[in-house]
Amino acid sequence: MTKSENIVWHDSKVVKEERQKLNGHKSAVVWFTGLSGAGKSTISVEVEKELYKQGVHTYRLDGDNVRHGLNNNLGFSAEDRAENIRRVGEVAKLMADAGLLTLTAFISPYREDRDKVREIMDDGEFIEVFVKCDLDVCESRDPKGLYKKARAGEIKGFTGIDDPYEEPNNPEIIVESDKNSIEECVQQVVNHLKAKGYLEV
Ligand code: ADX
Repeated sequence: MTKSENIVWHDSKVVKEERQKLNGHKSAVVWFTGLSGAGKSTISVEVEKELYKQGVHTYRLDGDNVRHGLNNNLGFSAEDRAENIRRVGEVAKLMADAGLLTLTAFISPYREDRDKVREIMDDGEFIEVFVKCDLDVCESRDPKGLYKKARAGEIKGFTGIDDPYEEPNNPEIIVESDKNSIEECVQQVVNHLKAKGYLEV
């Protein structure tokens, strides 16, 4: 749905496949989803570092960071979360079009919102990574002290406490951060990207 009329798509003379060739690897969106404190940011940061070491061009979009700028007018209602994910999906798609292996770390609690991003991407260019971690473990980690505030009623609508998190039905990758080390989770993601041919053209 668009509000603007009389807009016409203008093609570039350099296309995604040519940028990928120049870079020496494919581009895609690696979409980390999971509860707050599950390890999305931590794992995606380490995955990016490892890919950089292997000469891969990357960029990472992170919920807390994007909400400081592009999405600073959005809160945490279902509607605002949907808009948050829609915008990030569009930005990630542009980055993939620019030839980058793009990593995103957003709770993205609604299946429908994540599936909509999958739909706008080309086949095989949306890699959903479910960062699975028991709520109890996330809550005991509580890196930002937000679960404590949510339990005290100081934050309303906190994911996992009084707001839903819908687990992916069919993610490309599941990493279990409450059972495996960060290093193991990182290796699992990098191995998948390698095995599926993303790290070469
Ligand atoms: S999403 O649900 O729209 O995908 P996003 O990943 O951008 O969320 O932002 C989540 C971060 O916002 C959390 O890591 C936490 O630091 C902060 N936050 C603040 N309020 C909430 C809330 N009500 N629910 C979840 N996270 C919140």
